[in-house]
Amino acid sequence: MRIAVARETDAGEPRVAATPETVKRFAGYGAEVAVEPGAGLKSGIPDSEYTAAGATVTADAVKGADVVLKVRRPSADELRNYQRGALVVAIMDPYGNDAALKAMADAGVVAMAMELMPRITRAQSMDVLSSQANLAGYRAVIDASSEYGRAFPMMMTAAGTVPAARVFIMGVGVAGLQAIATARRLGAVVTATDVRPATKEQVESLGAKFLAVEDEEFKNAQTAGGYAKEMSKEYQAKQAALVAEHIKKQDIVITTALIPGRPAPRLIAADMVKSMRPGSVIVDLAVERGGNVEGAKLGQVVDVGGVKIVGHANVAGRLAASSSALYAKNLLTFLDILINKKEKKLAINWDDEIVKAVALTRDGAIVHPSFAPKTAA
Ligand code: NAI
Repeated sequence: MRIAVARETDAGEPRVAATPETVKRFAGYGAEVAVEPGAGLKSGIPDSEYTAAGATVTADAVKGADVVLKVRRPSADELRNYQRGALVVAIMDPYGNDAALKAMADAGVVAMAMELMPRITRAQSMDVLSSQANLAGYRAVIDASSEYGRAFPMMMTAAGTVPAARVFIMGVGVAGLQAIATARRLGAVVTATDVRPATKEQVESLGAKFLAVEDEEFKNAQTAGGYAKEMSKEYQAKQAALVAEHIKKQDIVITTALIPGRPAPRLIAADMVKSMRPGSVIVDLAVERGGNVEGAKLGQVVDVGGVKIVGHANVAGRLAASSSALYAKNLLTFLDILINKKEKKLAINWDDEIVKAVALTRDGAIVHPSFAPKTAA
């Protein structure tokens, strides 16, 4: 069994899909591990560390590989080098990318999308959305503090008092919770909002204050899968009025609100941005999915009348060494259920609910029910 670790070809992707630690584990399963030269450099891992862990570093790593580990979906160019039947595991970004999914099917690879991992206890250690969102939430606060011209904690000095920063977190999933915890550790006064009632207690347990329109719709805003629903126009209007009042008094706002498979909800309109004091900072973590903030631009820090709107892409990648380590661990625990260690080969159980949830393509076709072309009536 040959496992390849590909070097990411997208210039905006500094992460890598395996670390020396996970390579050593794969080698322990009897796998021959091949790593493309320079694959780990941007995550602080030199080739020599992969070699020391038992891998071969070669430009031909993916040739003849049974498994290819990646961070991002392979391009058509990359697919040309993969053998038919190879298992390719990555963050596949499948929504709205039909042509790319078809290319993987046509290349005959078995593509598995890590972000479709079901949120069940057995799959928790394979959950890349959580491992990466947690780091993004932390980094959002650090990015905000570096753009902010004042201190976060209250400081009483002989020369006068510096007030604590007021930080407002919108969307309290994995990223939002870590943002609350990070801002609190830095000494900020933190408030937070979400549409899922379960978040209220979580916010309060982290020492922040919860703020939301708590009506009948709010009580039912969580799906069985634990995600948020898209809220009605009426709810959005009430929420906007509440937020507009609150936001004027905030120094830092971090937005993280997402709805699976849909564009991100718009939470901050241009007039709300205008109502904030110059020097305030907004970080939009949803910018890659359309953005929560009007005027946010992907990959840019925009200045709107002295208010900075931060729209960095790939925020987890801004902590590449940490995010790669956790992502690689997610892949390791996932491959654990796909490898027969006695026979030292792949043994995919297609009836496993985890496999069914993540498998996109197989035997030349798109097999995932959410993405397979609908057959004509
Ligand atoms: P997400 O990244 O999909 O969304 C971020 C947050 O935005 C969510 O809390 C969502 O409720 C909120 N949001 C959506 N629309 C909004 C609006 N209009 N206004 C304000 N907030 C809005 O969420 P994430 O971080 O992936 O977590 C979602 C859920 O999954 C949580 O309940 C979390 O506890 C659960 N979870 C379960 C896991 C497991 O069981 N293995 C692992 C990780 C998370």
